Amino acid sequence: MSDPLLSAALEARRNAVAPFSRFQVGAALEDAKGRVHTGCNIENATYGLTLCAERVAVFKAISEGARKFRRMVIAADTESLTPPCGACRQILWEFCGDIEIVLVNPGGKKETLRLGELFPRPFDASFL
Ligand code: THU
Repeated sequence: MSDPLLSAALEARRNAVAPFSRFQVGAALEDAKGRVHTGCNIENATYGLTLCAERVAVFKAISEGARKFRRMVIAADTESLTPPCGACRQILWEFCGDIEIVLVNPGGKKETLRLGELFPRPFDASFL
């Protein structure tokens, strides 16, 4: 795990607030200037207002002024690597475009994809 973005996602996962699912996720998003924006999932008692790690990272980055992105690492402790949910795919597509998505687990298993593979034929502002 010598890639600092992988370490950042695994480290962010430790901050997850997941008392209901006990499923902890971390994300690390690298912007075009090389800055790293992290996120973890944050659950609350309504369940439905839960925020996924990926969207926390994207919105933190946007709120810090970042607008162009290179890649995101997503970390969860599953043998079959955890991909982003449908809602996160939409947000990632709209704010980050066809970036590289790296899925990892704490054991060092890793898979690299592009968002376009995970989210073919997206709806976005080009239709409006
Ligand atoms: N979760 C994420 O944060 N990202 C994913 O890619 C999958 C799901 C969170 C939401 C919820 O807190 C928990 O994992 C179980 O769904």
